[in-house]
Amino acid sequence: MKDITRRELISGLAAAGAASLSGQAFSQTSSVAANPEYMFEPGLIYLNTAALGPTPRSILDRTLQAWYQLESDPVMMAYGDGPVHVATDKAREQLAALINCTADEIMLTRSATAAMNSISVGIGLGRGDRVLTTDVEHEGGTNGWHYLKKHNGIEVDVITILPTDHDVKAITSRLRAAITKQTKVINVSHVISSTGLRMPINEIAEIAKQNGILFIVDGAQAVGCIDVDVKALACDAYVGTGHKWLMGPKGTGFAYINKSSAAAIQPLEREQGLRFICGSTGVGSLPLVIGLGEAAQAMRSRGMQAVEKKTIGLRNHAYAGLAKIPQIKLYSPPPGPEATALVAFKIPDSVDSRDLRDRLLTKHKVVIKVAEKRWFNGNRISPHIFNTEDDIDRAIAAIKKELA
Ligand SMILES: Cc1ncc(COP(=O)(O)O)c(C=O)c1O
Repeated sequence: MKDITRRELISGLAAAGAASLSGQAFSQTSSVAANPEYMFEPGLIYLNTAALGPTPRSILDRTLQAWYQLESDPVMMAYGDGPVHVATDKAREQLAALINCTADEIMLTRSATAAMNSISVGIGLGRGDRVLTTDVEHEGGTNGWHYLKKHNGIEVDVITILPTDHDVKAITSRLRAAITKQTKVINVSHVISSTGLRMPINEIAEIAKQNGILFIVDGAQAVGCIDVDVKALACDAYVGTGHKWLMGPKGTGFAYINKSSAAAIQPLEREQGLRFICGSTGVGSLPLVIGLGEAAQAMRSRGMQAVEKKTIGLRNHAYAGLAKIPQIKLYSPPPGPEATALVAFKIPDSVDSRDLRDRLLTKHKVVIKVAEKRWFNGNRISPHIFNTEDDIDRAIAAIKKELA
């Protein structure tokens, strides 16, 4: 590394309070504001990781370090065996290790949406083909199918999942019943973004396999939130995002394409190679994907089972607290196997969910999400490892006060 790079990096690290990857231990008692790894505005209680997660200083420092290195000699660093490009190969390995696949099964993208777009148009679907999905998918997951419907004449079949429907067996049966001879793809979220419902991926994978159908999973709300093992899930492809639960740099995502399904799923970006920069991709954000790899590695070091245990503990605490507010109807699954860190709730129709969100922020410095109106009039909280029970208690007290 050249001097300027080192100097810049060191000053960056000093400003960051010399945070390190090992400094990312779970905070049990201190609030978010007291944790130097995170750069939240003082006093902010951030409960919206399912929308965008915070990037810890150590990950940002590694990203910036890569960027400084890149700028020291751009062409030499970025192409071929240039060290910054090689570091993106490592990023694919780090992601692969987190979700249990190999680096050549990982395609780096700028978002989960971009990954899903590439996969959907990379299957070669045409008139007469059908895709089966649900009505609670995020638009980033289904954009490609609607594009193919518009331009290639495919059909998209959709089963309904009501916000209060946590019966995963019944959901699986409805999916099975909706399969036709023309169904070529089943696509569902691993974790439903509106309510956090954990979908029965293994059971759906089995049905897809029995019927010779490709199974593609949108894991944008899963990777970094729950323990994900793509081989155990037995899907053909799985997409993830870097800027939510992984707490990687904004503008990062990825697709896993099972080696045995690679002949059926051929994204345009992989036409001329599997590396981050090749003839079919052009130049991309190398520093960001290097940061994404570090974020994946940091999650692996924490241990996804430990992460999940912590976030489930926080969400169950939130669930219990919210259940005591009479004006609220909880829409997320109760504590149990279908629950994840996302907790969504309906509020009375007389209160606008955007207004509640705004009041929580301006009066209480609490950040939560508005549920999309097509879901219900309500809000969603999504605690991650940097949050504490105290954060949850303060958010619940604020919600209670604003709904009183
Ligand atoms: C289930 C799901 N899929 C896809 C996305 C889009 O993610 P990205 O911004 O990485 O495209 C989201 C974002 O909220 C999501 O919840």
